[in-house]
Amino acid sequence: MPSGEADFLVIGSGIAGLFAAYKAKEYGSVLVVTKDRAEDSNTGEAQGGIAAAIDDEDSPYLHLEDTLESGAGLCDPRAVEILVTEGPARVMELVDMGARFDRKGSEWALGQEGAHRKRRILHAGDTTGGEIARTLLRECRRDSRITLREGCFLVDLLREPRTGRCLGALVMDSLSGEFSVCRGRVVIVATGGAGQLYRNTTNPAVATGDGMAAAYRAGAALVDLEFVQFHPTALALPGVPRFLISEAVRGEGAYLRNVRGERFMPGYHEMAELAPRDVVSRAIVTEMRKTGADHVYLDFSHLDPEKVRRRFPNIWHTCCQYGLDPGEGRIPVAPAAHYIMGGIATGRNGETSIPGLYACGEVSCSGVHGANRLASNSLLEGLVFGARAVEHARRFIEKNPGEPKMPDLAIGERTPDWSVPWEEVTGRVRSLMWEKVGIIRTGEGIAAALAELEELRRQYPERPASRRGVEGENLMTLAWLTARAALMRKESRGGHFRDDFPLRDDRCWLRHIVFQR
Ligand code: SIN
Repeated sequence: MPSGEADFLVIGSGIAGLFAAYKAKEYGSVLVVTKDRAEDSNTGEAQGGIAAAIDDEDSPYLHLEDTLESGAGLCDPRAVEILVTEGPARVMELVDMGARFDRKGSEWALGQEGAHRKRRILHAGDTTGGEIARTLLRECRRDSRITLREGCFLVDLLREPRTGRCLGALVMDSLSGEFSVCRGRVVIVATGGAGQLYRNTTNPAVATGDGMAAAYRAGAALVDLEFVQFHPTALALPGVPRFLISEAVRGEGAYLRNVRGERFMPGYHEMAELAPRDVVSRAIVTEMRKTGADHVYLDFSHLDPEKVRRRFPNIWHTCCQYGLDPGEGRIPVAPAAHYIMGGIATGRNGETSIPGLYACGEVSCSGVHGANRLASNSLLEGLVFGARAVEHARRFIEKNPGEPKMPDLAIGERTPDWSVPWEEVTGRVRSLMWEKVGIIRTGEGIAAALAELEELRRQYPERPASRRGVEGENLMTLAWLTARAALMRKESRGGHFRDDFPLRDDRCWLRHIVFQR
């Protein structure tokens, strides 16, 4: 694979990376590298939509309040203010580019999701992420200032030894396994999340936390990793992937019932089915334990089936594909890992602790989600902070002119790992995380997971030479850091719940856990 060079090196092709590329082209050449096909990202699979206070009855201030409430005391209020005030204009840029969100006559058809007090979710049926990804990819592909390289997997971030500035990445051709270097005067990491840390996840196979792990190895600070969002309703059928059943279905009035047919959410929270996700996921686990079942039901038999089919065509179709008849009005669901609130610590302009390195989207922790992300805020974050990262990076390039010196590369110094059963190793990591560092955690369970993760890390080679090896190493590193943070935080808050410390403790824990090598 040839080496690449550009003013802006963008790693990742979800909403944050593509929007950053779209913005950066005004200031210089852009190289976007992405692990598999450009379409393979969490963005592409997002269903519910993108939150923005655009309705006359809504305001950015109400959106701010809902976001802070959901974040359970750990949001950066200024970052949230930026998100909700800059968000609507960014969404309208997508509309100007050609993204088609649903309308009701001349108005936007706004959806409702958990913990939002207003209808403020713009959507395109139930494939909103697909519509956004298609729009951005079309724009990026047709602009000669942007080069898009698919099948180009991030291995490590590279820094200039003298100044510590990040100036590129060691990458691997996903097919041939050949290494090469991509250089950038600045590097914007937008590689998305790490749902593959868990046995059950709504995330695609590419979500192995590569950007977070590479940034950590390069010396960047990671923060808030103990906060993991489990989506309450993923399809629960034996042998079938945990396909997301959007929260918007509950937004349209669907109920949750246990296998005995009892509607249970009103007994857990005043917002019932639209309570914050952590509350709903824990309630479902409690009901599953109580009834000895591995699922509950999402029941929409009281709604007009034709309306449900029209509003959620992709969900309807996918259920049919797996042999369910959604016309009966109920779908078996269970929680699954969905979103990592923590990530590479950034300021309000995507800047990280490494000069020249920026992060945006799920890979970053910008402070907008706190301990629990408000539904449909992540696509918005990708737009707002993708654009801000470019503005800051542009100024960084202006202040640091001249050709930075790339160090000699030790591409060859990697450990042959062809005989390592990576599938088995990552399977073990994912099971450990699901069982012991999952929705309901205990100190004893986390400590046991940590001991086994440490043993696994000792047993398997560092700096492996294969793609599966690097992904395996990334998952082991992030699992280990997540478990350490979860063990340290002796309280429950947002996406971190400890059965042995079930209460929120603002006196001791209104703070963040940061890891930096
Ligand atoms: C959903 O459609 O329920 C997912 C939306 C999100 O995670 O923000």
